[in-house]
Amino acid sequence: MSDIRFDGRVAIVTGAGAGLGKTYALELAKRGAKVVVNDLGGARDGSGASTSAADLVVNEIKKNGGEAIANYDSVATMDGGQNIVNTAVDTFGKLDILINNAGILRDKSLLKMEEAEWDLVVAVHLKGAFCVTKPAFAIMKQNGYGRIVNTTSGAGLYGNFGQANYCAAKMGVVGLMNNVAIEGAKYNVKCNTIAPVAASRLTEDILPPEMFNKLKPDFIMPLVVYLCSEANQDTKMIFNCAAGWFSRAEIVCAKGATIGDGSREISAEEIKENWGRITSLDEIKPLNNIGESFGYLGSLL
Ligand code: NAI
Repeated sequence: MSDIRFDGRVAIVTGAGAGLGKTYALELAKRGAKVVVNDLGGARDGSGASTSAADLVVNEIKKNGGEAIANYDSVATMDGGQNIVNTAVDTFGKLDILINNAGILRDKSLLKMEEAEWDLVVAVHLKGAFCVTKPAFAIMKQNGYGRIVNTTSGAGLYGNFGQANYCAAKMGVVGLMNNVAIEGAKYNVKCNTIAPVAASRLTEDILPPEMFNKLKPDFIMPLVVYLCSEANQDTKMIFNCAAGWFSRAEIVCAKGATIGDGSREISAEEIKENWGRITSLDEIKPLNNIGESFGYLGSLL
């Protein structure tokens, strides 16, 4: 097995002051990358800010003989995103890897959720991923190389009670990946997404204690490190991961049902009659882009 190395590579890890992001930053640095450790240093609900979270990780990397610099900007503004990318380019001269990982929670059931709770969670997870990815992509396009890893959640992919803001934001991150992977294809910019489950302050009161103790962030890190490496040639993929389980998740298109001939009217009754075929997951396949879905229309057009 040949080693995966990042010598000469520059990486940004957002939200790298704790939890999952910290494990990515430490491992990338250990394998030779120069790392921008971004962290706002706020509380789990996104309130407050502090420099200590990012500083502690930078100190640990340096103590281990690696190279890193702290950045304390919030990912949730365009200025913040630009500044995070500038930190990489101004300090280390380039940018090869971006891990969009920063995150917060403001859980409430739908009817209790206030606009502010919606806005902040969407701002950090979804807009934040855009704010950092846009300036990062500009550099990667110029260099003809880039690896971007986004962070979604099973809550977004499959749903979860009490997280309307988070579910929506996390699914949005998948949509962003779909676009970045397509626009990045000809520049060797690969963009993938992980849906982790791991023990961190985000999950300490969500996961049962016996599970919490087993779900170490270190079990997620190897997948992210691989996806960030030159060895990874895949893009636009989603991966569930937890405790050593790695599984591809995919938004697929099923064969479905063709009703009518493309010109006559279709009735609601025909939808009812064909409901089994319409909802069937037989003959599913992932699509590379929206254009491929038109292929299913066949003789209708
Ligand atoms: P964590 O709370 O330990 O780490 C998140 C880090 O992001 C914190 O250090 C925080 O200060 C930083 N952060 C928050 N807002 C920021 C902002 N605006 N700008 C820059 N930094 C900011 O949480 P954890 O679990 O490590 O989460 C990492 C990512 O993984 C998040 O996107 C989370 O939604 C996602 N995730 C985690 C799961 C889990 O089981 N731990 C499950 C599914 C997704």
